Amino acid sequence: MKTTTSIEELENRIKLLEPWRYNHSYGEILIKSDTFAAQLHDRFGKGLMRGILTNLIADKDPKELRALDLGCLEGHYTDILCSLGLKEVVAVDVSEGHIERAEFLLKELKGYENVTIVQGSVGDENFMKSLGRFHIILFHGLLYHLKDPLKIFDILEGLIPDDGVFYLLLSTQYKMPYNLVVSPMPLADLQIKPLEEVDGDHSSGLLYSPADGSVFERCSFRLNPSAVYRVLKLYGYQGLIAYDSPIGYDYSFHSNLVLTKRPQPSLLVNLNNHLKIPGVKFYEWDGASVDSYRFNKKWISKLLRFAIRLQFRIFKTLKLGRKNFR
Ligand SMILES: C[S@@+](CC[C@H](N)C(=O)[O-])C[C@H]1O[C@@H](n2cnc3c(N)ncnc32)[C@H](O)[C@@H]1O
Repeated sequence: MKTTTSIEELENRIKLLEPWRYNHSYGEILIKSDTFAAQLHDRFGKGLMRGILTNLIADKDPKELRALDLGCLEGHYTDILCSLGLKEVVAVDVSEGHIERAEFLLKELKGYENVTIVQGSVGDENFMKSLGRFHIILFHGLLYHLKDPLKIFDILEGLIPDDGVFYLLLSTQYKMPYNLVVSPMPLADLQIKPLEEVDGDHSSGLLYSPADGSVFERCSFRLNPSAVYRVLKLYGYQGLIAYDSPIGYDYSFHSNLVLTKRPQPSLLVNLNNHLKIPGVKFYEWDGASVDSYRFNKKWISKLLRFAIRLQFRIFKTLKLGRKNFR
């Protein structure tokens, strides 16, 4: 923290920068948020992320590592990366409000010198290339907001370092209802969040959420877990480790993944041995589960899939019927 800044001045700045989405503290300074996301982050998210990252860098010199936090929001995960003493942490968000809060939190308040905060879009290839290469990339809560969710995997290819040390931490939502999660349809069925949840200047081509200042290229849409799995395989991700976070249940349905290009069997064992968080288990992901729901084992999912197939068949027959009628 800048020593010349008084606590009162800092508290005024915190107020001016509202709304905050997460709770933060530094010495006697507290940033308070009353969101559900803040509660979840304090109960599970923070500890999980710190534990995973600590594990990933355990046998490496942090001073040689660069990390990237994509869609960093106000820097709640960037904060953890910076605190691990990495050589450099780059945080990117498209929202001006989030960038201002992240700048304040990470630089002014916490005084990190290993952080670079940049406003830009992850879909902008040239911008992303200009950031350099990274050993760890956090890609949480963003895939389902992108206009072109496949393009980002091409862009990520250009950010991987040559020395092979590379981890992608991908977390994406699928949202409910459950029957759409297990639907055999391809990548997405493009169902969108109710429009009243977003507001603002649609003419700019971006959506703005007044609740917390996030900016999105598009409304959330439902990805299909097995399609995400296939895409990851196609891009050469070998070690696909999933963990079912206890937050997934309450919040929506997620895949939380730790991905590498070079399989490391010891990583799975280490994560399970060193990270003992009640309700959290790391396992090899085969694309057939979201959080703790496994599609091909539970009788309910079999029943649902049967119902969906039946529904498609009826739909097809009706469509054919209509054609014949014309
Ligand atoms: C759902 S939040 C996830 C925040 C954080 N990564 C996490 O998991 O808690 C999505 C964030 O991505 C940002 N965002 C949305 N589209 C983006 C884009 N095209 N490029 C960069 N950031 C974007 C939003 O402003 C928001 O901060």
